[in-house]
Amino acid sequence: MSEVKKSGHSHHQRGRFSGKIGYVLAVAGSAVGLGNIWRFPYLAAKYGGGMFLLVYILLTVSFGYVLIMSETALGRMTRKSPVGAFEHFGKSAPFKIGGWLNAVIPMLIVPYYSTIGGWVIKYLVEYLRGNVQKVSEDGYFGSFIADSWQVEAWFLVFAVLVFAIILGGVKNGVELMSKIMMPVLFGLFLVLAIYIGTLPGASEGYKYILTLNPAGLAKPDLWVFAFGQAFFSLSVAGNGSVIYGSYLSKSEDIPSSARNVAVFDTIAALLAAVVIIPAMAVVLGQGINDVSGGPGLMFVYLVNVFNAMPAGRIIGAIFYICVLFAGVSSIVNLYEAPIAFLQ
Ligand code: PFF
Repeated sequence: MSEVKKSGHSHHQRGRFSGKIGYVLAVAGSAVGLGNIWRFPYLAAKYGGGMFLLVYILLTVSFGYVLIMSETALGRMTRKSPVGAFEHFGKSAPFKIGGWLNAVIPMLIVPYYSTIGGWVIKYLVEYLRGNVQKVSEDGYFGSFIADSWQVEAWFLVFAVLVFAIILGGVKNGVELMSKIMMPVLFGLFLVLAIYIGTLPGASEGYKYILTLNPAGLAKPDLWVFAFGQAFFSLSVAGNGSVIYGSYLSKSEDIPSSARNVAVFDTIAALLAAVVIIPAMAVVLGQGINDVSGGPGLMFVYLVNVFNAMPAGRIIGAIFYICVLFAGVSSIVNLYEAPIAFLQ
């Protein structure tokens, strides 16, 4: 929260953002993370491509947008972190539970998030070591995640890194860096989208993304995962908006900031899907179906593209650094509510 000039937790001490762009970028730094880059494309591939995208967008512009606005307003009105913000309306059980849920949910997401963060660091290290060919070999990702000691070790590396950042007080620096890294990541995605578009077989990926199969609407899974992903991606109930809202000045327009955040977050997710799903089509060399992918999508198919492209080692390393920053700037926000409450 680098735009916050002074951070404290009483009504009078709470800092303010220096401007609208600073605010939107800070919230987007929390919202855009592994959820957009790693999780969204694999869910879109798994739950029917175009129909998942459509349902996701509808849920984002309706529920998602309204919830970001409500959370921001709750934070700004009470100037408190979530537990206090809910209690502001009364100390009865529903408000207490509501507040506590907001402090507990982030703690449930953290281990999950840190596992994937560990995968990202592992791949970044492999690219830095020049193992571009090795990581693209068949079965590499599968055997990596089957090795629980290794996964555990990389999980710890990520967790320690995040703790060091929080305890070392360099969180603001990371958030500032992520504002630089985010445009780099967007630019990189654009370059990759264009490059992959020139490869044979990519059209199958676009076809999959654009095909609306109405039968998909009858599948409860599609709705459950689209809902879950929309909330996860927008950091709803992860406290982002309540906390950031508590720093927002009275003169800012909440609906317009919330709209910007939702749009930014959705563009990032769509861009990732438009890169990763066609990359999968290129590598598979045949049509895509719902079972072709899985959580390894970002790790299995993109690495093949990096392996085949000029300067793939450098581009792969930049890619995983950007993804790491996006992940770290999201997870520090997850720690924020429990920490603010403890403080
Ligand atoms: N929105 C983040 C992502 O898409 O990666 C995940 C997240 C961050 C959820 C912060 C909740 C939160 F409070």
